[in-house]
Amino acid sequence: METISIINAKDYVDQKVRIGVWLTNKRSSGKIAFLQLRDGTAYFQGVVVKNNVSEDVFKLAKEVRQEASMYVTGTIHEDTRSHFGYEIEIEDIELVGQSEDYPITPKEHGTDFLMDHRHLWLRSKRQFAIMKIRNEMIRATYEFFNKEGFIKLDSPILTGSAPEGTTELFHTEYFEKDAYLSQSGQLYAEAGAMAYGKVFTFGPTFRAEKSKTRRHLIEFWMIEPEMAFMHQEESLEIQERYIAYLVEKVLENCDYELDILGRDKEVLKRYTQLPYPRISYDDAIKLLQESGKFPDVKWGEDFGSPEETYLAEHFSKPVFVLNYPKAIKPFYMKPHPTREDLVVCADLLAPEGYGEIIGGSERATDPEYLAKQIEDAGLNKADYEWYLDLRRYGSVPHSGFGLGLERAVTWITGEDHIREAIPFPRLLNRIYP
Ligand code: 4AD
Repeated sequence: METISIINAKDYVDQKVRIGVWLTNKRSSGKIAFLQLRDGTAYFQGVVVKNNVSEDVFKLAKEVRQEASMYVTGTIHEDTRSHFGYEIEIEDIELVGQSEDYPITPKEHGTDFLMDHRHLWLRSKRQFAIMKIRNEMIRATYEFFNKEGFIKLDSPILTGSAPEGTTELFHTEYFEKDAYLSQSGQLYAEAGAMAYGKVFTFGPTFRAEKSKTRRHLIEFWMIEPEMAFMHQEESLEIQERYIAYLVEKVLENCDYELDILGRDKEVLKRYTQLPYPRISYDDAIKLLQESGKFPDVKWGEDFGSPEETYLAEHFSKPVFVLNYPKAIKPFYMKPHPTREDLVVCADLLAPEGYGEIIGGSERATDPEYLAKQIEDAGLNKADYEWYLDLRRYGSVPHSGFGLGLERAVTWITGEDHIREAIPFPRLLNRIYP
C-alpha cells in the first residue's frame, strides 16, 4: 500500500492508500462520519461508515478534533458531488497529534483576529489557494527570465543607498556606520546588467511608508529585471510578455486554486492578449480631466488610487502610462530627449482597481547629469561613486523595471487586500506573528 498526497488521489481510484492529513471540519450522524481533510496539497472528504470499521476507529472518527493530525488508510473513490472530485472511504485512523480547541472555527472571524492567528490562518482553504498561486508566479518568474536569457543576481539587503528617496528608509546600524534595509535592488541590478547583459533580482524590499492602504506593505518582494543595450520600448515588450506569462501559467497550473477563490478565468484570459495599451502621462491627465470625474487633477501630480483605477478601467486591460514629470520620479531616470520636464519611464496599471503593479524606466547614462541628480536628491555623492562608475566604463542605454510580487498576486487572485498575498505581512501596526 502506498502513502500518497491528496492531490494525487485521481491516480488511485479503487486502490487502498495511506495519507497523512489534518482534520479541517467534521460532520457525523449515528452511522457515518464525514471528515474534511487537508494535507497541504488539496482538500477532500473522508467517509467513515460505522458498519464497515472497528468500533475503535468509529469512536476515534467521532472524537478527533479540528486540526488534529493523523494517518488515514482507505480506498479512493470518485466523488462527483464535490469540487475536488474524489474522496476516501476510511478503514483505519492512526492519530498522530490530537488538537486543542482550535481558535479558527468555520464561522466568520474579524480581520484583526485572523491576523493575530496568521500562523494558523495560513491553513485555511483560501489562504492555501493564494499561497499556491504566489508560488506558481515565483516559479513562472524564474522560468520566464531564464528562458529569455536573464540570470538571477542577488542584491544585498543591507545597503548604503536610497534609490527610491530618503523619506521611507529603514535605518539600522552597520557596526559604526549607518545602513538601510534595501528599498530596491535596482542599482545593483544595473551593475549586473553591465556585467552580464540581462539580469533580474528577486528579494525582499522595505519601505517605512506611513500609508495604511490595501496596496501597501512595509516589507514586500520585488522582481527587478535590468537589461543592457535596451531602450524603453523593448523593455515594455518584455514587461507585457512577462505579465501575460504569469497569468497564463496561473491559468494553466492553478485551476483548482482559482476555483477555490472564485476568480473569473475569462477575465484573466483577457490579460494574456497582447499588446497592452500605452498612454502618455500628458494624455492620461487629459483623459482624467475630460472624464469630468476628477475636477482637481493637475499636470505634475502623481495619480492617486481612484485615478489609477479609472485609467485601467478605461482600457479594461493592464495599461502602461509613459513619461511622467521628472519632478515626481527618482533621480536615476533618463531625461526625455525633447521635453525637459519629463523622464523616460512607464508604470503599468492593473485593471479592476488594483493600481500600479510595475514601475520602470530607461536609466540616465550621462555621469555628470546623474551626479547632479544625486546631489539634488539630497544624497551623498561619495556613496554613489560605484554607481557613477557604471557610466564611466562603457556606459550603454539600459532599462529595467520592478514588479511588486504581492500587488501582482493580489490582482491575479482577485483579493481585496495585499495583506493576504504574503505569508506573514508586515504592516504599519503589525509585526506579530
Ligand atoms: O515604483 P517603485 O518604487 O520602483 C522601484 O523600486 C524601482 N527601483 C523598480 C525598478 O525600476 N527596478 O516600485 C516598484 C513596484 C511598484 O510598482 C509596486 O508594485 C511595488 O513595487 N511596490 C509596493 N508593493 C507593496 N507595498 C509597497 N509599499 C510598495 N511600494 C512599491
